[in-house]
Amino acid sequence: MLEKPSVSALLPRHLAIIMDGNGRWAQARGLARSEGHRAGAENVRTIVTECRKLEIAYLTLYAFSTENWKRPQAEISVLFSLLSDFLQRELPLLREQNIRLKTIGCVEDLPFAQRTALAHALRATKDNTAMTLNLALNYGGRSELVQAVRAIVREGLSEEAITEESLAEHLYTAGQPDPDCVIRTSGEQRLSNYLLYQSAYSELIFSPAFWPDFGAAELRAALEEYAGRKRRFGRTQEQIAN
Ligand code: FPP
Repeated sequence: MLEKPSVSALLPRHLAIIMDGNGRWAQARGLARSEGHRAGAENVRTIVTECRKLEIAYLTLYAFSTENWKRPQAEISVLFSLLSDFLQRELPLLREQNIRLKTIGCVEDLPFAQRTALAHALRATKDNTAMTLNLALNYGGRSELVQAVRAIVREGLSEEAITEESLAEHLYTAGQPDPDCVIRTSGEQRLSNYLLYQSAYSELIFSPAFWPDFGAAELRAALEEYAGRKRRFGRTQEQIAN
């Protein structure tokens, strides 16, 4: 049984993470970059399990961006092969922990083997209800907006029917709450085309830890920092107090 760890903190309903620093983690140890990605993929299990224990309803992980195609072909192959391994290895865990897997991004452009493995995992977990794990794959916030606008045009929505809500319903995250908190590891402080529309009011937390080192303790520290933030959504402090 999963036991919810005691946290004093107000937790995000939707947590999004930019898993950065695999390469530097490997470099610091004199290892190949692929070893960093391997360690990073293993850490995904740790963080998914921890978020599930904390009863976080939505977790979105940036696994492969539209810009990542610019990396050397050998590195791209390693990332895709780790994705296949992850899906095979962790499907029982997702089932056991009642976690629904979803993808965001242009998954149609991924290699056949990964598309097939994803389709299987999505189908196998579609009725799970405790948590949604979104894997951002071939994802970019700008291209997401472009595909949303194209869909809106295709559907022939009238000018008045185009609202913040109807636009959001054409994003990959349709039906899900916006991320309350976006964490980026490795000390870099930018969004890198991640959830551009959805993160309008997200609290941004930057952890110095490289992704393979971002374990349960680092996650807790980031969530404590989130809990200490005052979210105002454009209102004054007085309005919030009353
Ligand atoms: C950034 O590290 C990380 C990525 C480009 C991809 C994240 C991938 C994983 C965690 C492994 C595979 C994922 C799954 C879901 C199985 P970087 O290489 O940019 O690090 P650097 O900035 O130190 O070079």
